[in-house]
Amino acid sequence: MSITIKTAADADGMRIAGRLASEVLDMLTPHVKPGITTDELDRLAHRHIVEVQDAIPAPLNYAPPGYTPYPKSVCTSVNHQVCHGIPNDRPLKNGDIVNIDVTVIKDGWHGDTSRMFVVGEGSIAARRLCSLTYEAMWRGIVKVKPGVRLGDIGHAIQTFTERQGFSIVREFCGHGIGRKFHEEPQVLHYGRPGTLEELVPGMVFTIEPMVNAGRREIKELGDGWTIVTKDRSLSAQWEHTVLVTDTGYEVLTLSAGSPPPPPEPSAA
Ligand code: MF3
Ligand code: CO
Ligand code: CO
Repeated sequence: MSITIKTAADADGMRIAGRLASEVLDMLTPHVKPGITTDELDRLAHRHIVEVQDAIPAPLNYAPPGYTPYPKSVCTSVNHQVCHGIPNDRPLKNGDIVNIDVTVIKDGWHGDTSRMFVVGEGSIAARRLCSLTYEAMWRGIVKVKPGVRLGDIGHAIQTFTERQGFSIVREFCGHGIGRKFHEEPQVLHYGRPGTLEELVPGMVFTIEPMVNAGRREIKELGDGWTIVTKDRSLSAQWEHTVLVTDTGYEVLTLSAGSPPPPPEPSAA
C-alpha cells in the first residue's frame, strides 16, 4: 500500500466527515462536567453519530492486526491515560483532564479529531499541559504545504514541546486517512528537518501529538487498548485531520465549536 492522493471530490467527502466528527465534540462539550461517566459520553456520541448524522462510529469493533475489537464508539483518555482509553462507569471528577477522540465514517470517508477537556476547575499545571499540547499540534499543522517533508512537521512539534520541558510519546503517531481509518504515511510527532516523505497536494493525514508532563515512556494496560504513562504523569492529546492544498493546508475537522488556533501559531 502507498499514500493515497485525494481528488477534489474525495476532499469534499472528507470535509463532510471531518465536520461531523468535530460536531460530535461540540455536542459533547456541555456534558463534560463532574459526575458524568465516560460511558455516558460514549452513549451520547454513539446516538448522535448514528441517529442524527446517519454516520458510523469508526472505533466500534475496530480491530487492527494483533488487537481485540475496540468495544466502544469513542476513546476517552483520562489524566495519565495517553490514548485509546475505553469508556467506563467511573464518574469524572473535578480537576480531571480527558481527551475525547471521535472518528466518524460518512459515505465511506473518515474524519478523525480529538480535543482535551478540563473537568470543572483544573489545576494550572493541567490547563497548561492541555494548552501547550494544542499549540504543539498547531505548530505541526502550520508547516503543512507541498514540498515540506514529514520530518519538518515532527521536528516543529518536538522542539516546541521539549523546549517547555514536556515529552512527546514516540510509539503512536498521526496517520494517513481516507476510505480507511489508518492509511500511510505515519506522521511522527518528532523528527529531523528535511527527512521522510515530501508532501504533495491531495494528501490527507492526521496530526495528533501525545504530550506527557513527565517522561515519554508508556505502557499498555491489560485491556489490550488503554495506553498510560509509565511514571503516571498527566498526558494530553489533540487531533485534527488535515488536507495538503496547492498552497498550504486545510483543516478538515472544523465546526462551529472548534477552538480557534492559538495566537501566532507560525511564530518560531
Ligand atoms: N482515533 C484514534 C486515532 O486517532 C484511533 C483509535 S483506534 C480505536 O488514530 F480503536 F481505539 F478506536
Ligand atoms: Co487519528
Ligand atoms: Co483519533
